[in-house]
Parts: sequence; C-alpha cells; structure tokens
Amino acid sequence: MPLPALSAPPERVDIQLGERSYPILIGAGLLDDPLSFAAVPAAASALIVSNTTVAPLYAKALRAALAGRFRTVHLLELPDGEVHKNLQTLNLIFDALLGHGSDRKTVLFALGGGVVGDMTGFAAASYMRGVPFVQVPTTLLAQVDSSVGGKTAINHPLGKNMIGAFYQPQLVVCDLGTLQTLPPRELSAGLAEVIKYGPIHDMAFFDWIEANVDALVAREPAALAYAVKRSCEIKALVVGQDERETGLRAILNFGHTFGHAIESGLGYGEWLHGEAVGCGMVMAAHLSQRLGGVDAAFVERLTRLIERAGLPTTGPALGAERYLELMRVDKKSEAGEIRFVVIDKPGSAAVSSAPDALVREVLAQCCQAE
Ligand code: NAD
Ligand code: GLY
Repeated sequence: MPLPALSAPPERVDIQLGERSYPILIGAGLLDDPLSFAAVPAAASALIVSNTTVAPLYAKALRAALAGRFRTVHLLELPDGEVHKNLQTLNLIFDALLGHGSDRKTVLFALGGGVVGDMTGFAAASYMRGVPFVQVPTTLLAQVDSSVGGKTAINHPLGKNMIGAFYQPQLVVCDLGTLQTLPPRELSAGLAEVIKYGPIHDMAFFDWIEANVDALVAREPAALAYAVKRSCEIKALVVGQDERETGLRAILNFGHTFGHAIESGLGYGEWLHGEAVGCGMVMAAHLSQRLGGVDAAFVERLTRLIERAGLPTTGPALGAERYLELMRVDKKSEAGEIRFVVIDKPGSAAVSSAPDALVREVLAQCCQAE
C-alpha cells in the first residue's frame, strides 16, 4: 500500500461515546495553532501539566496557542519518568490547582507522553469531582494509545496502573512534529503499541507495518501519519464498543500481562513500558501458539517485526514464580486466576486463562536464563 501524503487540514478520528464523544486531530504544526483548540470549553483559566523534559520544548508554543481563549494559562512541570507516576506527583497537580484558586471550569492540558497524560487525566477526573481536560500527546505511544480512550491512572508499588479512573478528554491533539524530538528508544517503545493493533484486529495493517517499519524508525512523516491515524481508528472502534472494558477492550492489552510483570518486577522505568509490551507480545504469541490459535510461522513473523522496531524480544530473568506472582496482580485477573490476551487467529484476539505449566514453558523459552 503506498504511503498517503501528509495533508493539511488535520486528519480527524472520532471517538463515539454519546455525550462523551470527542475528536482526535492528527497533523503537523497543530500544537501552535489556536484553531486546533477551538472546540475547548471556554473558561477563565487553564493549567498545562507537562514535565521537565517536554515543557522546555513545547510549553511556550502551546501557551501562545491558548492565550486567546483563557485569561490565565499556568504551567506545571512534573519530574520526568515512570518512577514518578505515583500519588506524590499526582498531589503536585492538586497543589498547583488549589494554589492558583482554580475553579471547576478550569481546563487541564496534558502536554507530554503517557505518564503525564495518565496522571493529568486522573487529576482532572478527581479535582472538584471532575474538570475538563485535553490530551496533547508528544510521544508515539501516547498518540497511538494512551491519550485516547479515557484510561487514567497512577502506579502503586504493588501494581502498575492500579489506582485510576475512566475519564474521557474533551479533545486529543496529536502534533506529529513533536515525534521528531523523541529519543530513538522512545520511538521504538511507541512502535510496540502500533504493532499490537495488527495481530489483535487488522492483519492488513500488520502487513503495512512490516513493509514500512524502516520508514517508521526513520520517522518519515507520511509513515508516522498513517500509523497514528490507523492506530487511533482501531482504538476508537474498540473503545466505542466497550468503554469500561467489560469485554472487548481487554484485547488492547495484548502483551501487557507479561509486560506489566516485567515493568514492576524490574522496577518502574528500568524497561520502558513499550519495551515491556513488545517483549510481552512475543511471550503472548508463544502462549497463543501453545493454545492452538497461531502457528510457529506467525510467532516468528511477529518476533522479527518487534526486533526490527528496535525492541527487546527476550524477557529478563525474574524467575517463573516471580512472573506468576506479579501477573496475578494484573487487573484482568479474576479470583487469583491470571487471564491473558491471546491471538485466537491472526487478526483476532480473546481473553483466556492458561495452565501454569504452559505459562512456565513460555517463560522458560522466552526469558534469559537465571
Ligand atoms: P513517557 O510519558 O515516560 O514519555 C517517554 C519519555 O519521552 C519521557 O522522558 C518524556 O519526558 C519524553 N518525551 C515525551 N515527549 C517528548 C518529545 N516530543 N521529545 C522528546 N522527549 C519527549 O512514556 P510513554 O511511553 O509516552 O507512556 C508510557 C505510559 O503510558 C506508561 O505509564 C503506561 O502505563 C501508560 N499507558 C497508558 C495507556 C492508557 O490507555 N491510558 C495506554 C498505554 C500506556
Ligand atoms: N491501552 C489499553 C486500553 O486503552 O484499553
């Protein structure tokens, strides 16, 4: 499939959730354009929540774009990193809101990756029992996944994303230009969540990613534009049917059960979330093969693509018992039984339990020796 040309005005994907519907705008140069934010509710003040890495790059431009809509636009810079996605850092947002005397119409803008987005969303869900917020994702991972769909959360030392809320933004603005300043490791981490959409829903998209992975790693604008748009379309389709993950939405967690265990087992921030998901998808593919959903050739194809995206495909040596213990804390677990997202045929996923013996076999095959 040829690469589509970058187009202006921006591409638009809609999340259809009745009165909580909102658009995702995708394009270059959106962050500094006041028109990108024309649909944001009117209010006296806005708070941009960012971090010490992203704010110096993009907060000035966003502030200028918002200046005509709000009397005051405050900026809060959080410490950077997954290790800070916790209650203490969340409280900095409440301190800033209360310190500025922010009322219940105040609009929060999450300017950054998934960490800033998840924390700002949770703060918006709970400040005065809910204020409007806008996602301005600046990582590939956040543009294709975390900024869309309303999952907000912080980590707890005993489990990843364990404290949070479903709370939808008013608008998502994906400025593709911001991806040009991402460190290469972060770009690869985002590609893990792009690749995810193929095996779970769309093998034609999987074929496209295979054909274009080098262009994506090289950050070719047209390739990134298509990857973000198609990913958002698939996520919109799933979230539109199952906002609160009573069933279908769980397929978006392909690779995440193993991945979350890697993240919390090593300590948050040691492996990036996307790296853990990439490796977790390899493990979940092996489990799917053992459960009869896919063949060895499919597992090999997925593993090769994950490798070409610059992601790890061998898990750390946490030990099988530790993996199992960590995976029991996953939100999909029921009555202590671990539930995995498995591929039941290429392009289709389901949630399944699996005998511990099979999981141990997968861990033995996919992890470094202890
Ligand atoms: P991140 O937010 O930590 O960002 C990665 C790094 O890139 C950070 O150091 C950040 O400061 C930096 N950065 C961000 N934008 C930049 C830019 N344009 N230029 C240069 N540097 C930039 O990590 P992430 O991968 O974006 O998000 C991971 C988080 O998202 C995890 O906490 C994960 O649990 C969460 N997540 C949530 C959902 C959801 O549905 N809510 C889905 C997937 C992941
Ligand atoms: N990233 C998984 C979800 O949004 O459901």
